[in-house]
Amino acid sequence: MKLIAAVDNNWGIGCDGKLLVQIPADQKFFRNETIGKVIVMGRKTLDSFPQGQPLPKRTNIVLTRRTDLDTRGVIVVRSMDEALEKISEYDTDDVYIIGGDTIYGQFIDLCDEALITKIDHTYRADAFFPNLDERDDWALTHDSEEQTYFDLEYIFLKYSRIKRVAFEDEIRYYIQEYIIFILRRNEMSKYKILLTGAYETAINDFFTQMGDVFECATTSQRPGDLAAHLKFFGPDLVLYCMMDESEESIKNVGAFAATLKKSNVPIGVYGAEFEISSLKSHLGGSVDLEFVRPKPMPQIKDEIVNFLDDRKLSGLSDRDMASISSGAHASQPSAAPAGAPAGGGDNRKHILVIDDDPMMLKLIREYLKADYQVATAINGRTAHKFLETRTTDLILLDYEMPGDNGPVVLKQLRENPATANIPVIFLTGITERDKIQEALAQKPQGYMLKPIDHDKLMVAVKKFL
Ligand SMILES: NC(=O)c1ccc[n+]([C@@H]2O[C@H](COP(=O)([O-])OP(=O)(O)OC[C@H]3O[C@@H](n4cnc5c(N)ncnc54)[C@H](OP(=O)(O)O)[C@@H]3O)[C@@H](O)[C@H]2O)c1
Repeated sequence: MKLIAAVDNNWGIGCDGKLLVQIPADQKFFRNETIGKVIVMGRKTLDSFPQGQPLPKRTNIVLTRRTDLDTRGVIVVRSMDEALEKISEYDTDDVYIIGGDTIYGQFIDLCDEALITKIDHTYRADAFFPNLDERDDWALTHDSEEQTYFDLEYIFLKYSRIKRVAFEDEIRYYIQEYIIFILRRNEMSKYKILLTGAYETAINDFFTQMGDVFECATTSQRPGDLAAHLKFFGPDLVLYCMMDESEESIKNVGAFAATLKKSNVPIGVYGAEFEISSLKSHLGGSVDLEFVRPKPMPQIKDEIVNFLDDRKLSGLSDRDMASISSGAHASQPSAAPAGAPAGGGDNRKHILVIDDDPMMLKLIREYLKADYQVATAINGRTAHKFLETRTTDLILLDYEMPGDNGPVVLKQLRENPATANIPVIFLTGITERDKIQEALAQKPQGYMLKPIDHDKLMVAVKKFL
């Protein structure tokens, strides 16, 4: 709905039941805007028209509590509720709130645009439009060239409502975006592995074969060197590559393990079984990762990446996970029992959206959140983690994502009995025929092309829920 008014310097609009001034170009503008549309006014504004008659070629809705009004050519409503019910029969884009003072005041919070003719003059006035320059929920979004009518200057302005979400939702949204940003940044950066030990072939392999996922550094086993690397390199994992290690070397690394524990840095070991046991006996317990020689390097790489990925995810608190995963419903209990739907007592259907683009996640959540519980995940891994403890009624799955793409995630979902029967709709901007066929071969229940159209999305979702 739009507000339309002509105001003076003090936002005055009328005096003694009349307009402050009549400017032909403004009247033409008003006519052009409202012809064929619905205009909503107070009874006194109707009275101010020539012979108190409704404006032609428009649907005139008039608010009045009086019962003696001549209702010819107008739709009379007796309260705001009645007015809103009547207005709901029309396309809201076609509804113009045309005044006066009391009506603007009651409708302003329901409108999202105001077309203001601002006249550079101060008149005596007894009716006013709310001063939009003083309201922080409205912003000037367009202005015209300056116009003149004799010596009067005026300008056509457009104000738009600044859409505000509740403060709490806003904060939650920014926290969520921040966490997603950190996760994405971390995903892009490599894990840091600090290598030590005499098993040089293995250490070389890390540098030559694993540079795509790990940033590596080496250090001696001297306590000072180990401590300095911990401080300045900041590793995600220390890996002791053992080969004929001296007793002193094992003792030093064993002692260093205690410092690592305090710093929350895991320690792994790669060596012969007896070497691993001797290290364990020095540190009086277990290590976080063990690789018994010989072991193929790609396998070691995968195990380290999975281990560090899991650590990163479980390092997030339950609340963080709920923020990432449940969007607007983060305040709901996140520790739902396995298999429970994600919204506690809320019986709306639940949708999980998986997309690496936070803006896309936000957009889709905005589209759906009024009717559904919506959880979001930035990749397949986060989604699987979410589905370990909760269920969903429908999954919207991005096709192209870094790491595991949509078809891979769908395959994993189908392979897991707990998620095999959840309907999945692919979301993708891909228009190449072979890729579409590849996606359809996975038999998703639906397929939608990006950019996502609100109405089509709602229709597609309704088919399943
Ligand atoms: N510059 C502009 O763009 C512009 C535009 C429009 C009007 N105006 C000026 O504004 C002035 C009129 O404004 P105004 O505030 O005095 O009057 P108004 O808003 O036009 O009409 C007020 C009347 O509307 C009815 N009404 C209001 N709220 C109602 C509700 N919730 N339920 C039922 N009826 C309701 C009542 O009618 P009853 O008394 O019949 O119950 C009330 O007395 C005039 O000077 C006019 O020229 C200027």
